[in-house]
Amino acid sequence: MKIVCIGAGYVGGPTMAMIAYKCPDIQVVVVDINAARIAAWNSDELPIYEPGLDDVVKAARDRNLFFSTDTHKHVAEGDIIFVSVNTPTKTRGVGAGKAADLTYWEGAARMIASVSTSSKIVVEKSTVPVKTAEAIEKVLRRNCADPNVHFEILSNPEFLAEGTAIEDLEKPDRVLIGGKETESGQQAIQVLKSVYEHWIPAERILCANLWSAELSKLTANAMLAQRISSINSISALCEATGADVQQVARCIGTDSRIGPKFLNASVGFGGSCFQKDILNLVYICETVGLKQVAEYWHSVVHINDYQKQRFVERMIEAMFNTISGKKIAVLGFAFKKDTGDTRETPAIDVCKGLMADNARINIYDPKVTEAQIHNDLSLDKFMWDHPSASGTKSPRQNSVTCFKDAYSACQDAHGLCVLTEWDEFKTLDYERIYASMTKPAFVFDGRNILDHTRLRSLGFVVYALGKPLDPFLQRAYN
Ligand code: UDX
Ligand code: ADP
Repeated sequence: MKIVCIGAGYVGGPTMAMIAYKCPDIQVVVVDINAARIAAWNSDELPIYEPGLDDVVKAARDRNLFFSTDTHKHVAEGDIIFVSVNTPTKTRGVGAGKAADLTYWEGAARMIASVSTSSKIVVEKSTVPVKTAEAIEKVLRRNCADPNVHFEILSNPEFLAEGTAIEDLEKPDRVLIGGKETESGQQAIQVLKSVYEHWIPAERILCANLWSAELSKLTANAMLAQRISSINSISALCEATGADVQQVARCIGTDSRIGPKFLNASVGFGGSCFQKDILNLVYICETVGLKQVAEYWHSVVHINDYQKQRFVERMIEAMFNTISGKKIAVLGFAFKKDTGDTRETPAIDVCKGLMADNARINIYDPKVTEAQIHNDLSLDKFMWDHPSASGTKSPRQNSVTCFKDAYSACQDAHGLCVLTEWDEFKTLDYERIYASMTKPAFVFDGRNILDHTRLRSLGFVVYALGKPLDPFLQRAYN
């Protein structure tokens, strides 16, 4: 059997590496039109940072795992074709700002159809709007010259989270395979199931119809994001009332019906999926006339935007209502720890907010490159997922400097803010940092990972999300 994956990104790369690693009897080829990305997958410097990924790739690469730009040859030879290309949010036209742009998906489908001389199972791996499979099937069927070639479409959404991708792939809560309720659809499900059964117990492999599988992915992400927006909304209330959001989260999390996960208040959720998938869900609801349902889910994104904005406003307010010309150290730029990924990271909106008020920003992130940071700060909303997009530096961005360590970023700063929960930020020498900063030295903990009592004892004025106000700030407000 030969498996081919179109798209060597965050989903396609690690997922195929795991399949190859666990299934030595299957040849796995990952293809991409981006030659630099493929070259990186074939080198010692993989294009994405993910704990444990290097070992999995090294064990399988050139054995039964290959990365190539020769899309046509490999797709023609494949039995199962995974499609894991980008599905950006549309920036113009019908559904702009919400609907998924399926240009890359359709391009991939047309290419599959044009090169196929044998029947194939085509698997949706990237998240797509419900009913995409139906449209894709038409594209495949009508563009293939050979009438004997049959395409069977499956939806096999990926639930891995970045930073824990290898763990998630090795021991997933579940694998979901959606297919048509026809005989050939059910057969195709069994073929894909047999691949996963190489290492995943059969009872963890759930089968569903195509639309349920597509909708499950959007709903899972929407529900996870909704938990974060729920606790973030409560963090605002905690600050206003003197309650502590971490105590509230702990108390409610012990209710087994609620559970303890995904209740960490933060400066906002980021990542390539949550916002995009919710907006997709909102758009689908609108198009079928479910206005109230659309509004309900849209509010999850609104609260996320509110939380980022609230964080910036609180910083400005705390620092005597002006940050103009002040140096602010930003610790962490990735959307979460253990990844170098910055897609939809809350750090972008926070930095843009600070830049709008003329602050000078010193950024340090252990895994994000300077070029990436500058590019992110110069791109318009939703443009990150459009491969041809590259930003142009605005004059304000001259006020952004990137550093190779936290200490130099904090030197002479008036305030520091933690935007990513990297473990190394917990153990920094804050005495040294305090000594190097302008006084009063402010800390804004956007992830609630620091020891606030200790920082206060060192002399810092501390603002923590959803926590009672620092006595210094309390005095300032009274
Ligand atoms: C998510 C889903 O978890 C995964 O199943 C899906 O396949 C892709 O989208 P990912 O975006 O990689 O994965 O990371 P996730 O761990 O879900 O975190 C998303 C964002 O929420 C991050 O910015 C994270 O910092 C934030 N978050 C998470 C919180 O603010 N609080 C929490 O309690 C948990
Ligand atoms: P994800 O996070 O879903 O994996 P990425 O944006 O990281 O998404 O990866 C998508 C990849 O798909 C990109 O590397 C892009 O170059 C690739 N791609 C898009 N369209 C095609 C296509 N028609 N053929 C091959 N690769 C494609």
